Amino acid sequence: MSVVVITGASSGIGEATARVLAEKGHKLVLAARRIDRLEALERELSPRTEVLTVRADVARPEDVEGLARMAAERFGGIDVWINNAGVGHSLPWWEEETQALRRVVDVNLTGPILATKAVLPYMLPKRRGHIINVASVAGHVGTTGVYSATKFGLRGHTEALRRELLPYGIRVSLVTPGFIRTELTKGNPMRMPSAEVAGRVIARLVERPRREVVVPGWYRVVISFNHWFPGLTDWITSRFLRTEGGVGQPRRLRLR
Ligand SMILES: NC(=O)c1ccc[n+]([C@@H]2O[C@H](COP(=O)([O-])OP(=O)(O)OC[C@H]3O[C@@H](n4cnc5c(N)ncnc54)[C@H](OP(=O)(O)O)[C@@H]3O)[C@@H](O)[C@H]2O)c1
Repeated sequence: MSVVVITGASSGIGEATARVLAEKGHKLVLAARRIDRLEALERELSPRTEVLTVRADVARPEDVEGLARMAAERFGGIDVWINNAGVGHSLPWWEEETQALRRVVDVNLTGPILATKAVLPYMLPKRRGHIINVASVAGHVGTTGVYSATKFGLRGHTEALRRELLPYGIRVSLVTPGFIRTELTKGNPMRMPSAEVAGRVIARLVERPRREVVVPGWYRVVISFNHWFPGLTDWITSRFLRTEGGVGQPRRLRLR
């Protein structure tokens, strides 16, 4: 059984992933800012497996360093680290405060990079480990200026990291969710799969590392379409969709 650290485990995809991994008996370190929610999840899962909860803001390097240290001290090492914590932005990005935009970058992009920097000292000497970064279809298909920028950035970082760490025996995977029903997409009227669907995919990835998983899988068609027909995608998007509010502001992400 693996020791798995999950950031952003207090709701949505992170919480659902924790539940599936607990069913399978993996030892869990759950991190987020809402410690009350993490503790409630710990109470639910601890009959099935060992759980440590840690209050951590992934935008604070000292928090992620502390998280890695506490996880390694408690379980004697870290096998899998899932960079899942993420935020959207609500207004069209050019109407947001500069500080709010910086925050999106700090949480979604700088956060996973610095968390990986914090965990590598525990994985490199053992030449073993697995880093999983949760990006987005918006990291393949540009939809919202700043959210997409962070997810494109995270995808680029993950591809490079995978190649950088190959000689060290450390696996690196990318998770690419499309719309999933969570707090992030609250109010979005589209039909979406539950967080559990994404949680099951990520739990499978923990046991069988792959380069990238797209969930739900049919978003691969959207990604390929955008890749091969970017002009047509521009036309369809501008004609039928309003995306400028981002994944965090679903009421603006609707059919015109
Ligand atoms: N839902 C979708 O449609 C969708 C689509 C594509 C990609 N994604 C990605 O999937 C990941 C999970 O999102 P979700 O849909 O499950 O949303 P969610 O339910 O809002 O969960 C986000 C999680 O991130 C945590 N978080 C936010 N800021 C944090 C910070 N500064 N430090 C630590 N934790 C922080 C939140 O916990 P606290 O507030 O307690 O800190 C929460 O546990 C994100 O990276 C998101 O971009 C989601």
